[in-house]
Amino acid sequence: MAPATDSLLEERRDHPHPADGTAAAYALGESDAEAARLRVLDAVYGSTSRALLVDAGIAVGWRCLDIGCGTGLVTHWLGEKVGASGGALGVDISDLFLAQARGASKQHVVPHVQFAVSDAGAGNIGEAPFDLVYARCLLSHLAQPARVLQRMAALTKPGGVICVEDIDCGTGLPVAASPAHLRYWQLYRAVIAHHGGDPSLGRKLPRLFHAAGLKPAHVGVVSPTEPAEDIRRLSPLTLASLRPALLRAQLAAAAEVDDLIGALHSIDHTTAACPMVQVWARKSIA
Ligand SMILES: C[S@@+](CC[C@H](N)C(=O)[O-])C[C@H]1O[C@@H](n2cnc3c(N)ncnc32)[C@H](O)[C@@H]1O
Repeated sequence: MAPATDSLLEERRDHPHPADGTAAAYALGESDAEAARLRVLDAVYGSTSRALLVDAGIAVGWRCLDIGCGTGLVTHWLGEKVGASGGALGVDISDLFLAQARGASKQHVVPHVQFAVSDAGAGNIGEAPFDLVYARCLLSHLAQPARVLQRMAALTKPGGVICVEDIDCGTGLPVAASPAHLRYWQLYRAVIAHHGGDPSLGRKLPRLFHAAGLKPAHVGVVSPTEPAEDIRRLSPLTLASLRPALLRAQLAAAAEVDDLIGALHSIDHTTAACPMVQVWARKSIA
């Protein structure tokens, strides 16, 4: 009997946006407000990201690549950990986010932390291979995550580490207690899928690793409950970033989105952040 088609590993080639078959337009857009939202995202998930990277063995002298680095918050932390004998390169498709990332470098004068424009799927990334290739909340936005993960592995030294974190906001969310949250996550899933991404990618990461020839050394899921105020703000800020894409795709009317942003801002009960799946693997030496 022929094996069942594994939809997980199928490339979603029918997507209308990718320029090169890999990069979908980033659904959350490129704006100062989105850059500010990325700081809130880091306030929510930064401590668990750092714990993951420590678990993966981040050490002085490592050369690290952060793909889809956004405003470079993790890239800068990697730079601190590896010191001047190592390096951290952050790449992203957004000039605006990278300008903010570089601004932070200048303030702290860290020449071993660099940023460059590059497409995760196709862009030129110099000075490979790296000791660590990392991506947080990137693959769920891409039409071809399996191909990009394979590329991440190819950019890693034998014995080096590939580390990926991505959210899973499919059904079964522990956070969606209120109707406003339920509708928010419904719209989030619809617009990310419309842009060729996969809002439930997190749960698929371990299988993607295996398919890329990588045996996970660690698989975990985190769903932070602190800092509560940042977790509370993340949903309305995310919806505000998604507003233009939602309206363009006619997935919701402006009035509904605006009312929902207001409703999410006014929710004051405690929620847990959307589950973030964390995986790292060591590239085989053979
Ligand atoms: C949710 S943000 C995460 C940013 C950062 N990794 C973090 O956790 O703070 C996703 C980032 O991926 C970038 N991005 C989207 N598509 C990309 C692509 N094809 N190549 C490189 N970066 C991309 C976006 O510009 C955005 O900065």
